[in-house]
Amino acid sequence: MTASDFDNIDGLDRWRREFPILATTVYMISNSLGAMPAAAADSLADYARTWATRGVRAWEERWWEMSREIGDTIGGLIGAPAGSVSMHANVTTATAVALSCLQPVPRRNRIVCLESDFPSIIYLLREMQSVGWELIIVPAESDFSVQVDRVVDAIDHRTALVHLSHVLFKTSYIMNPAPIVAAAHHHGALVLLDGYQSAGIIPVDVAALGVDFFTGGCLKWLCGGPGAAFLATRPDLLPKLRPRLTGWLAHRAPFAFDTDPLVPRDDAMRMMGGTPPISAYYASLPGLDIIKAVGVDRIRARSKQMTARVLALAEKHGFPSIAPRDPERLAGTVAVDPPDALPVSRALKARDFLVDYRPGVGIRISPHFYNTMDEIDRTMATLADIVERKAYDRDAPARSVVT
Ligand SMILES: Cc1ncc(COP(=O)(O)O)c(C=O)c1O
Repeated sequence: MTASDFDNIDGLDRWRREFPILATTVYMISNSLGAMPAAAADSLADYARTWATRGVRAWEERWWEMSREIGDTIGGLIGAPAGSVSMHANVTTATAVALSCLQPVPRRNRIVCLESDFPSIIYLLREMQSVGWELIIVPAESDFSVQVDRVVDAIDHRTALVHLSHVLFKTSYIMNPAPIVAAAHHHGALVLLDGYQSAGIIPVDVAALGVDFFTGGCLKWLCGGPGAAFLATRPDLLPKLRPRLTGWLAHRAPFAFDTDPLVPRDDAMRMMGGTPPISAYYASLPGLDIIKAVGVDRIRARSKQMTARVLALAEKHGFPSIAPRDPERLAGTVAVDPPDALPVSRALKARDFLVDYRPGVGIRISPHFYNTMDEIDRTMATLADIVERKAYDRDAPARSVVT
């Protein structure tokens, strides 16, 4: 089957029109920032119009409860019931909110996390040691994989919270949380699963996963831009939780403006704090609608075919890759590691093939449902050409803090 046969097979190519950047670039970086749907601009215009014409009335007409509205939309995509998803500026903050529901006590003061978790989370957890938490970081193997047994062994009666990534950000390896959740719950600990690299690209059912918290954001595979991260909390746990990191959105009567102790809402908005970033919500709704319309099962099927093609071409060109070879364990990204991967990634970007680079794993190639097989073939051919002709500047200074 040729690349274009494949691209027409499942009708997904019609979605390309909805994403303007696809007309000018080969967009292989949805693990970092999903492509903007054209409808996001309309939605942001709607936001501006509402602000301009409704002014402060917008709060009562929609904005105050908009966190609940968007939380429920996200919940529908990840198997979280209505009223169990709260909205936060980013995943690190969402994690801090979940952790603020817990308190270290001498007999239960441990947090377990993975060395392969996203560093921002580890920075947060490390700092929490100054208020009495003890952090146990389960080391990564030399290929950045994580042995589930090692995580299970790190959990005991002193563990209050286990933090783990659903999909490891460097390798795109899909963890099997089940044995870890079972061990944590056996010892009376809670589990927070970081789903930033899973939601929107592989099917997620938080209820079936049995986790207590699930974090993620609209920025990447959900094509929603920055500022709309989320925290799903197990519904039966919610009423028992009282986050210390809180604010008036969590209050049942925020407009009473009294200074008595907060009376928390029954729903997930009890996990929220101060005034939310409404413009970010408007930006993210069209992406959520599109992902829902396309369907995560279809996205996953397409993604598997694309990642397999990247891997096959990497092999053909002799580029090493740390990516798991079992398609059931590989999510949306394939990291390939040619010689001089960092300057090669810059040369690719200069040719409008958008990818990123991570130390230790190389160039991350992350096709989404709106990419085509032809784009994959062109990305890998251009990559091979740059490597073969050494068409990059090894000594070029970084142009930004990002690369
Ligand atoms: C798995 C994972 N967790 C967390 C983060 C960081 O999230 P935030 O910047 O929203 O705190 C990222 C960002 O790339 C990520 O890939």
